[in-house]
Amino acid sequence: MPDILHVSLGDRSYEILFAEDLTAEVRAQAAALAGGGRRFAVVTDANVAKAQGAALRNLFGGAPTHVVPPGEESKSVAELGRALDFLASEGLDRSGALFAVGGGVVGDLAGFAAASYLRGIDYYQVPTTLLSMVDSSVGGKTGVNLAAGKNLAGAFHQPRRVFIATGFLGTLPPREFAAGMAEVIKSALVGDRALFDGLERSPLSAGDRRLASTIRLCCGIKARVIEADERERAEEGGRALLNLGHTFAHAIEQVTGYGAYLHGEAVAIGLCAAARLSRRLGMIGEPSVARVERAVSSHALPTKLSRPLAIGELIAAIARDKKTRAGSPRFVLLRSLGEAVVRGHVPDKTVEAVWREVGCA
Ligand code: GLY
Repeated sequence: MPDILHVSLGDRSYEILFAEDLTAEVRAQAAALAGGGRRFAVVTDANVAKAQGAALRNLFGGAPTHVVPPGEESKSVAELGRALDFLASEGLDRSGALFAVGGGVVGDLAGFAAASYLRGIDYYQVPTTLLSMVDSSVGGKTGVNLAAGKNLAGAFHQPRRVFIATGFLGTLPPREFAAGMAEVIKSALVGDRALFDGLERSPLSAGDRRLASTIRLCCGIKARVIEADERERAEEGGRALLNLGHTFAHAIEQVTGYGAYLHGEAVAIGLCAAARLSRRLGMIGEPSVARVERAVSSHALPTKLSRPLAIGELIAAIARDKKTRAGSPRFVLLRSLGEAVVRGHVPDKTVEAVWREVGCA
C-alpha cells in the first residue's frame, strides 16, 4: 500500500501517494477517468519517453501523448501553445484530464496548459526526477518563462493527485539527482533543522535507504506551508519562504539563457548567496555560511558561478523578479539553519558584494 500525504486546501485538496512503484494506482486513476467517459492525455519530455517508454505504455496504453524537448527552454510560451493545440486537436472537452509525466519543466508546462485549456481541466502529476518529487509536483504553481524573466506567466492550479514513484529515480542521471538535492537542502534550511544536520553529517546519494523518507519529509514541509498560504499572499513568511535561494537562482538562469545551469544547480548557488547575504545583514555567522556551502558541495553541487557574470545584468534580472514589490526586491534570508524570513529593502551594494563573493568579477 502506498504511503499517503493529504494536502488540505478545501475543494482543491489532494493526495500525494508515495511508493517505489505506483503502476497500479496510476492505471486505476486512468481507468476511473475512462470509465467515467472522460478522455485523458499525457505530456512528457523526450528523455522520459526514451528512458521510460515501456513504463509509459504500461501506465497509459495508447493514450494521446505529447512529447516536448527536454530542458528549461521548453518552459516557453511557444511550447505552451503547442501543448494547448495538442489538447484541442485530441478533442479533449472540459471533462478531460492531463497527466504530466516528467520533471519540473514538464509539470509546470503541462500544469499551465491544464490551467488554461478551456479555462481549466484536471491534471495529475507523475514526477520522474528528484527535483519534481520534492518540490515542483506539489503546490499548484504552474507556468512558463518569458524573455523578461523566469515563471513570469502562470497560474495557481492544484493537481488532482500526485503519484511519487521513487522507482523512476533508477534511470535519473547523476547530475539531475544532484540538482534535486538542492531543493532538498532548501527544504531543510527553510523548515527542518534535523534534516539539514542529517544531510550535513551524511550526504544523501541515489539508492540511499533514507531517500524515500526524505522525499516524504520535503513534501510534508511544502504541504504545510502551502496549506497556510496557498497563493503566496502572506506578508510575513508563508509560501514565499519556499523561494529561499530562488531570487539569486532565477537571475542566474535568466542571465545565462536557461541553458548553462540546471535549475537545481542555480538554486544551489542561490542558497549559498542567500546564506552570504544573511551573514552580511548580521543574521547568521560565517560558520553557518560554511555549513551551507559544505552541505551543497558534498552533494556534488556548485557553491559559486562557474564563470563570472555581469553584476549589472544580474541586478536588473532581480529587479524583474516576481518577488519585487514597489521596486524593492524581496529576499528570503536565514535567521538560522532551519529558519527563514523574508526581507525587502536590502541595499544594492550589499547584494552586489554577495554576487562578487559567489564568483562575479
Ligand atoms: N508547482 C510548484 C509549486 O507550487 O511550488
